Amino acid sequence: MTTDMRHAQFETLPDGDAVAARMAELFIDAIQKRPGERIRIALSGGSTPKKLFSILAKPEIAKKVDWKRVEIFYGDERHVPVGNADNNHTTATTLLLSKVPVPDSQIHAMPTSGEVQEDAAQYQRIMEASYGNKTLEKGRPFFDLVMLGLGTDGHTASLFPGEPVLDEKSAWVSVSSPKTAPHARLTLTYPAIASSREIVFLVTGENKVPMLRRLREGDSSIPSGRIVSEGKILVLADRAATGEPS
Ligand code: 6PG
Repeated sequence: MTTDMRHAQFETLPDGDAVAARMAELFIDAIQKRPGERIRIALSGGSTPKKLFSILAKPEIAKKVDWKRVEIFYGDERHVPVGNADNNHTTATTLLLSKVPVPDSQIHAMPTSGEVQEDAAQYQRIMEASYGNKTLEKGRPFFDLVMLGLGTDGHTASLFPGEPVLDEKSAWVSVSSPKTAPHARLTLTYPAIASSREIVFLVTGENKVPMLRRLREGDSSIPSGRIVSEGKILVLADRAATGEPS
């Protein structure tokens, strides 16, 4: 089964806090529904997931997760050093990963200290080692959960309009040099993101209205509109992002 955006599910929630709370439920469920299994999750970047990270770090919530079974990856990373406020791993570490007992060996930051293409190749090797194969197998998805954001230009992860990475059909990780956002970046490719049991988009704020509308239509002219999954796709949006009157 392959799900595309025309067959995605959508949930509208009152505000960003409600979106984060609902995503926390889905995050916990993705782990609890596969007891004893190693769970691979790709975190999204940018600002939207910050509320989610803070919720998951709360002791009364964190205790619901068997963190030793969780393996953390990233959907993309700005090619700036860890410690830079624009670095997604820095954000996730500060708000969540420094507060919960995921084994360090199971937290896979995208490398940002080398040449960007080599860093991308190195991340693919890290993913291959975790997966145990150099080829993604249909029916054995790499990710249990992929979190994605939506940019105001229709990008997701660092799959930006006009970038060569949009045509990548085999590599799992590649690079992007967007004209509409700062920094060179590493990003998961469409094939890597498709190797998933579940993809959840987090979309909040009225600045996302135009692109959320196009995403819901499955508009393949925007990068996010071309996302597919072996499993299911869910879009969590707050009312502001839908343009509906509150
Ligand atoms: C990144 C993200 C990117 C992000 C969108 C939305 O590293 O920039 O992965 O895809 O999810 O740009 O960003 P906001 O959540 O800040 O609106």
